[in-house]
Amino acid sequence: MITFEHVSKTYPDGTTAVRSINLNIQQGEFFVIIGPSGSGKTTVLKMINRLIPLTDGSVYINQKNINDYDIHELRWQIGYVLQQIALFPHMTIEENIAIVPELKKWPRKKTKHRVEELLKMVGLNPEDYLHRKPAELSGGQQQRIGVIRALAANPNIVLMDEPFSALDPITREKLQDDIKQIQKSIQKTTVFVTHDMQEALKLADRICLMKDGEIVQVGTPEEIVNQPANQFVRDFVGDQAPTLKGHVHLDELLQPIQHNTYIKQYPTINNQVATIENILEHLKTNDQVIIEKNGELLGIINRQAIIDHLAKQLQNGGNIYE
Ligand SMILES: Nc1ncnc2c1ncn2[C@@H]1O[C@H](COP(=O)(O)OP(=O)(O)O)[C@@H](O)[C@H]1O
Ligand SMILES: [Mg+2]
Repeated sequence: MITFEHVSKTYPDGTTAVRSINLNIQQGEFFVIIGPSGSGKTTVLKMINRLIPLTDGSVYINQKNINDYDIHELRWQIGYVLQQIALFPHMTIEENIAIVPELKKWPRKKTKHRVEELLKMVGLNPEDYLHRKPAELSGGQQQRIGVIRALAANPNIVLMDEPFSALDPITREKLQDDIKQIQKSIQKTTVFVTHDMQEALKLADRICLMKDGEIVQVGTPEEIVNQPANQFVRDFVGDQAPTLKGHVHLDELLQPIQHNTYIKQYPTINNQVATIENILEHLKTNDQVIIEKNGELLGIINRQAIIDHLAKQLQNGGNIYE
């Protein structure tokens, strides 16, 4: 749906931010671009909606070169969410969300209905919030408004540039859950930039890892973790793993589970010895567990897999704990 062919970007000062990249983002996909600061993520994103002109190569949306679109037509079919909360402070929440529908000259009633529907979708009661000003909302609520404003006029594509990085960890996790849920239900093609591997692993259908303006690897979260293309990918995933919030860092869990033996003393959460109950307590339904041994990643399993495993052990008459 979005195709990059040999795309390069050199800024006027001579900085080459993106070097001859090729990409194919599928319809309905949640595509996450990750990489260190300065690796070219924002540049890639902004080239999609022509906020930054290309130096070389071509970008296509639905097989049509982006330069052949009317610029307004192009921008209106692409929702855009920024890291800094960018609501207009003097406009009400309703007016903020309604901007693009109004530009598109939607009938008033349709717009009103849409605004209310979107507020409900992110758990904000329209009656309470429609007439408030942005300053009367918390940071997390404002960013929710930023997200639904980008969705308001039913864009085909949503671009998000580190939309949650200014938020506290709890709000951030809640918004990640929301956005994943929303994207699942509306199936918008989403290109999401982050430098946080936990966020990428949680949200992505596919992850594109960038370094120095080049693509190092594109793959599903499982592929990135289990089949890292090189040491850079391994380090990038590995560095992040111990600090994953809502995930646990488990030393030697896999081995004891495979051997169907005593596991009570082996796993650690934040370097503390944990019991299997502790681990399950820490995991929400969709969480994944990064399994690492002596600094090497062995794989990812989810809560269900642990429970299945325990259930099988019980069925086999094995005593899991002692
Ligand atoms: N307007 C600009 N002029 C010159 N260099 C820029 C400009 N914008 C970004 N860069 C440089 O391009 C590189 C990639 O930047 P960017 O795409 O913002 O990376 P990221 O989003 O991954 O942090 C960096 O070296 C950055 O300093
Ligand atoms: Mg950036």
